[in-house]
Amino acid sequence: MLRTGFVGWRGMVGSVLMERMLQEKDFLGYEPLFFTTSNVGGTGPDIGLDIPPLKDAYELDLFSDLDVVVSCQGGDYTKEVYPKLRSAGWKGFWIDSASTLRMADDSIIVLDPVNRAVIDRGLSKGIKTYIGGNCTVSLMLMGLSGLFAQGLVEWISSMTYQSASGAGANNMKELIAQMVAIGGITQDMVKDPASTALEIDAMVSEELQSGSFPTEFFGAPLAASLIPWIDKAMESGQTKEEWKGFVETNKILQTTNPIPIDGICVRVGAMRCHSQGFTIKLNRDVPLDDLSEIIESGNDWVKIVPNDKETTLQELTPAAVGGTLIVPVGRLRKMILGPEYLAAFSCGDQLLWGAAEPIRRILKIVVQHLS
Ligand code: HSE
Repeated sequence: MLRTGFVGWRGMVGSVLMERMLQEKDFLGYEPLFFTTSNVGGTGPDIGLDIPPLKDAYELDLFSDLDVVVSCQGGDYTKEVYPKLRSAGWKGFWIDSASTLRMADDSIIVLDPVNRAVIDRGLSKGIKTYIGGNCTVSLMLMGLSGLFAQGLVEWISSMTYQSASGAGANNMKELIAQMVAIGGITQDMVKDPASTALEIDAMVSEELQSGSFPTEFFGAPLAASLIPWIDKAMESGQTKEEWKGFVETNKILQTTNPIPIDGICVRVGAMRCHSQGFTIKLNRDVPLDDLSEIIESGNDWVKIVPNDKETTLQELTPAAVGGTLIVPVGRLRKMILGPEYLAAFSCGDQLLWGAAEPIRRILKIVVQHLS
């Protein structure tokens, strides 16, 4: 029987992965083994099967007879363990949500509703390293895959509105702590019909700028504000998050003529849903209705939201989309820039299609390939 090891199953992405695998009854066709970096001998997750106690994720001999390793442990773990395993001759499949190996020559970035053909070619060529993409890139491609598949995209500018979850669990908690701090100092004023919005705003501004506002993880207020910087600086003037848009999209699609993708990535006070506003330069003028159909036929999860206020408010917000696999695309219209310029807006759950779901699905594909 195939043996699959799971590392980092207890963190945020790992927990969402476990939840989805249970929902989809995915723990079938192989023996699952669970590893830990901190609780060797402890009890693994409840997956409805008898599983052995947790094994040491740094004891590499334990990996030698594994056919597949799934890691959501993070980049530092991958950096330390993966090269040692490969140089010790381990030939199993490495599936990872961390970015460390994404741009490696011998890895495939996985997003199978969009690049199944690339994955299948990789499997038949013997590639053994399959990595989940950056959340913003994966969510952009889930929304716009139909346009890419039809070869209609000349370039895209994507302006992002990224949720706290993309920065990590501590950041999600800090966003709430910031909201609580603001709520705490203003609640009496908010309830008082005699208070004015400007008086409340003055209190909020003072709180945001006070040294005691909780900003340990974000480095700046996010609640009642935003942060137009995600990840580290690149020489190009982009942030690394912005840099990933071009390099990862073209690697995922294995384009022969790279398609330029660029924009500004911004952290906003959404919990787990990344949104993006797109300017899409088409390489020809296509009627809007046809574009709508092309986008909706891109995959089973993308959904066109009519460009009206009521439906947009109901269906095209992080509040509506969080926790679901639907990737709505709306605000579709031709721009006054010209008939080849298309505006669009999309939302998607950063922890599902942005992280855990492509990993869950590639594991199934690999297990099928090996069975
Ligand atoms: N880097 C992303 C973000 C999340 O900070 O939102 C992971 O892809």
